[in-house]
Amino acid sequence: MNNLWGGAIADAARELNSSIAVDSRMWREDIQGSLAHAAMLTKQGILSEADGAAIKAGLEGILADLESGALAIDMTAEDIHTFVEMTLTARIGEAGKRLHTARSRNDQVATDLRLYTRGQIDALVGLIREAVAAIHDKAAAYADAVMPGYTHLQRAQPVTFGHYLCAWAMMLVRDAGRLSDARKRLNQCPLGACALAGTTFPIDRDMTAAALGFDGPVLNSLDAVSDRDFCVEVLSALALLAAHMSRMAEELVLWSSLEFGFVTLPEGFVTGSSIMPQKKNPDMAELIRGKTGRVYGDLMGMLTVLKGLPLAYNKDMQEDKQALFDGLDTAALCLSVLSPMIAGMEPHPDAMRKAAGAGFINATDCADYLVGRGVPFREAYAVAAKLVHGGKPLEDLSLEEYRAAHPAFDEGVYAAVDLDACVKRRNLPVDEELAALETFLKEQ
Ligand code: ARG
Repeated sequence: MNNLWGGAIADAARELNSSIAVDSRMWREDIQGSLAHAAMLTKQGILSEADGAAIKAGLEGILADLESGALAIDMTAEDIHTFVEMTLTARIGEAGKRLHTARSRNDQVATDLRLYTRGQIDALVGLIREAVAAIHDKAAAYADAVMPGYTHLQRAQPVTFGHYLCAWAMMLVRDAGRLSDARKRLNQCPLGACALAGTTFPIDRDMTAAALGFDGPVLNSLDAVSDRDFCVEVLSALALLAAHMSRMAEELVLWSSLEFGFVTLPEGFVTGSSIMPQKKNPDMAELIRGKTGRVYGDLMGMLTVLKGLPLAYNKDMQEDKQALFDGLDTAALCLSVLSPMIAGMEPHPDAMRKAAGAGFINATDCADYLVGRGVPFREAYAVAAKLVHGGKPLEDLSLEEYRAAHPAFDEGVYAAVDLDACVKRRNLPVDEELAALETFLKEQ
């Protein structure tokens, strides 16, 4: 088995031309699309009832046999469309040769790819939901655990671990939103555009679109077969998702180091060293960080394939699937490791608190206290800076020392620089954040 167009092709050219190694995974969508197409041709009287019934039974048989493993995909076929059609004709004879009436592989592949991508988006949003759930639960459990927040990786101001983790979850919620947006735009059916210019047969495009769960047909036939915007949109959403996961992964690497000691990563998500017995390496977090480069590459590859292509279909576009599938697979794999790794990580609130107690992260609060007593902020800032440069923790300074720095200080300053009080006064809306995440989790 090799091609549908009956010509000969050189061996190396066959290898270059073949896409079945990549597109064979779309067998379900290809058969689903063909079933919808055949049902429409039959209803329109383009196919006889007998041929329509034979095609339907034949396609359903192929679907069942592929599902059960009774039929293996022949990897010498040019692509999955060729394999399904040739298998159908081998099984049911003449009627199989009528399936491709009023259709081209150009509208067929565009339809299959939209169907496949739609299913993958749904699965990915499910995986994102799991990650958000894992983060939510950890954030709820450690909503009040005081830790230092950072800017420039320098201890800056106190926050809580719950608040921190909610920031992670917010990124993922936006990622799910971007994917769902892309899903809305891709949910139109290319079938009926045929090679590029539609068909002379009296087809019913609305019928096939509805049967496949699309919102309607793609209006312009040239656009239907040449548009791969949805691949770019999905890959760019995945690139951002990967960027977010890599930022989380980086923090897990830092936090699980002895230097921070904020969390212990769970067994099964760390590896030992072949030479250093004491090591627990955060390989999974590092790989999630590292895989980001791949997904960026997939996006760049996809954009580059499309650059300058004249309308409508060009074979360059066969390269769309490798990039898209790699991006989808990589993101799904990373999410399915990230969620249990977060669910299983053990936070160490004592270490977080200890880190928050050093590094003068209450210096802003000290300045704010003076502002509350009528001192202009710039002056208050300079006073607090002077105290910080003294090197003694602000909680440990005597009132005399405070007063020597500025006469507006009194006893109240101790409550102002107390770590818990500092965090409380910030009114971090952790409860609201958790509630927003719960709404997201319910809606998915
Ligand atoms: N394997 C092809 C692809 O993925 C299917 C479309 C082939 N169309 C064509 N005119 N040769 O793009």
